[in-house]
Amino acid sequence: MRSHILGAGFYVPPRVVTNFDLEKMFETSDEWIQQRTGIVERRYVDEGMGTADLGYQASLKAIKSAGLEPKDIDFIIFATLSPDFTFPGSGVLLQEKLGIDTVGALDIRNQCSGFLYGLSIADQFVRTGTYKRILLVGAEVHSTGLEFATSGRDVTCIFGDGGGAVVVGPSPEPERGVLSVYLHSEGKYYRDLWVEGPGSIYHPRIDHKMLDEGRHYPRMKGRMVFTHAVKRMPEVLMEALEKENLKVEDIDLLICHQANLRINQFVADALGIPEEKVYNNIQRYGNTTAATLPICLTECLEQGRLKKGDLLAFVTFGAGFTWASALMRW
Ligand code: UT7
Repeated sequence: MRSHILGAGFYVPPRVVTNFDLEKMFETSDEWIQQRTGIVERRYVDEGMGTADLGYQASLKAIKSAGLEPKDIDFIIFATLSPDFTFPGSGVLLQEKLGIDTVGALDIRNQCSGFLYGLSIADQFVRTGTYKRILLVGAEVHSTGLEFATSGRDVTCIFGDGGGAVVVGPSPEPERGVLSVYLHSEGKYYRDLWVEGPGSIYHPRIDHKMLDEGRHYPRMKGRMVFTHAVKRMPEVLMEALEKENLKVEDIDLLICHQANLRINQFVADALGIPEEKVYNNIQRYGNTTAATLPICLTECLEQGRLKKGDLLAFVTFGAGFTWASALMRW
């Protein structure tokens, strides 16, 4: 039995932060950010709204679009690198907000690959018949953890807040649904995109010196990440196509992680996929990490860009490093 995405939804906070707004906070320019990343604006939460809240709003829409009610959900998978608290994870906060029975809530990390790692888990649970209505959520609040100073401008300009959710359950027709998910990691690069502190490896987990040195902010070797992303994303997509005996030309819609528009153009060019088959929304939301793929998917569905029988490909790359692809017959 294949699993399928039965409904999708997303939520982004209403506050729009443009590149011109960032210009007022540190040395940068709208021109630089647009040329190097494609981003025009992103959304930030206001005080009082957390990661689980974004996930909750997205979940309500996903559940509704699946024709279900919250009580129908039998398992929660919550992917985020920015949980509301160190522990417990945001999954239990979401369970409480939804007001549903004591279903399990699994929190996963995996950063920009979180949604596809989560899809892989959901797929296994559905295939084995363990669960039938899994709520898979990716949500991030980056804005409260970024360094709004010139020293953090490379990272700060790319991230935005948002939430996306899907309901995963048995496919209504045997030939439709998730064909495959391929997952990879390469931990030797963990320091090339990370937030170091607070860390349980340190005694204490954070101190004044670490704060003064800004080691609680995300740090990235941008060019290094870029180089690996443009190699790994085509590679893991080809891995999926070859195993399924499919060709690049068979892809009807490609949804890439949204970290940098230039990365996605590289990936499409490397594979020879025409622009009209690739969906990007980084211009409006920046990089929302685990939320990115379900936000893109929901927008594609709203715009009628997917029809029954289409071959949908997802591909992602992020901190860890981790990367992944998924193929779905819509
Ligand atoms: O989310 C998970 C995966 N993440 C990614 O995939 C991100 C991959 N990397 C990137 O997208 C790009 O590396 C960035 C957009 C982050 C940076 O672009 P870049 O073209 O690689 O620039 P760079 O880091 O090599 O920096 C070039 C110059 C530097 O100045 P100097 O040293 O040449 O004087 C930076 O300080 O651009 C400067 N710079 C900026 N200038 C204006 C870096 N960020 C900014 C900025 N505004 N926001």
